[in-house]
Amino acid sequence: MSNVVLTTERLRLVPFAEEDYSLFLGLHSDPEVNRFLSPGPQSMSEMEARQKLSTYMDAHERNQISKWKLETVSGEFLGRAGFSWQQDPASFEMGYSLKRAAWGMGYATEIARGLVSWFFKTMPDDHLIAYSASEHKSSQNVMVKSGMKFWKEMEKHGVACRFFRITREEYLQDQILSAAVPA
Ligand SMILES: CC(C)(COP(=O)(O)OP(=O)(O)OC[C@H]1O[C@@H](n2cnc3c(N)ncnc32)[C@H](O)[C@@H]1OP(=O)(O)O)[C@@H](O)C(=O)NCCC(=O)NCCS
Repeated sequence: MSNVVLTTERLRLVPFAEEDYSLFLGLHSDPEVNRFLSPGPQSMSEMEARQKLSTYMDAHERNQISKWKLETVSGEFLGRAGFSWQQDPASFEMGYSLKRAAWGMGYATEIARGLVSWFFKTMPDDHLIAYSASEHKSSQNVMVKSGMKFWKEMEKHGVACRFFRITREEYLQDQILSAAVPA
């Protein structure tokens, strides 16, 4: 596949296309998937799903950095993962949402680690953030397992959130340390 953005051991990311709309709507029609996302614990409206999908397609088209379609290396749809630009704090944010059947298998951690590495190899930025509602511990676990550290608490869209961050220096330091561990 020529348009693959990133591949890990079990997963790959590819840009979204118009024909992914029903997969995307299917992902976000599960209230449990949306519990800590903008719709809250209900299905996402078709209008919001269309808007989000076209935002992701536009961002990829313009800047080659976006939220992408997450699938297994054999092509099974799992969800979405990637980056979006945040105005406050002005930073790229890493995010991921997987269909419920794919939770608890380490896929989110695997893709988050791949994304952190892709980001510092591809982008000039000196840091990357991620955040979630303060009570969303499984998402924060993924952030920590991708090398991020707790940064601060801050409200976002009226919700108390915990922000995590990794700097380029920390990323490079982690690389040096993991390379030094004997096999
Ligand atoms: C947040 C979300 C991505 C977390 O998914 P998850 O399944 O808990 O995370 P992982 O895929 O990394 O799985 C981790 C768990 O799988 C298990 N696991 C099984 N095989 C594993 C492997 N090879 N590697 C790592 N973990 C593995 C572990 O028990 C681990 O749990 P632990 O971290 O408590 O020990 C998922 O709940 C989701 O998509 N939610 C809906 C959307 C959402 O809320 N997105 C985030 C918004 S901020």
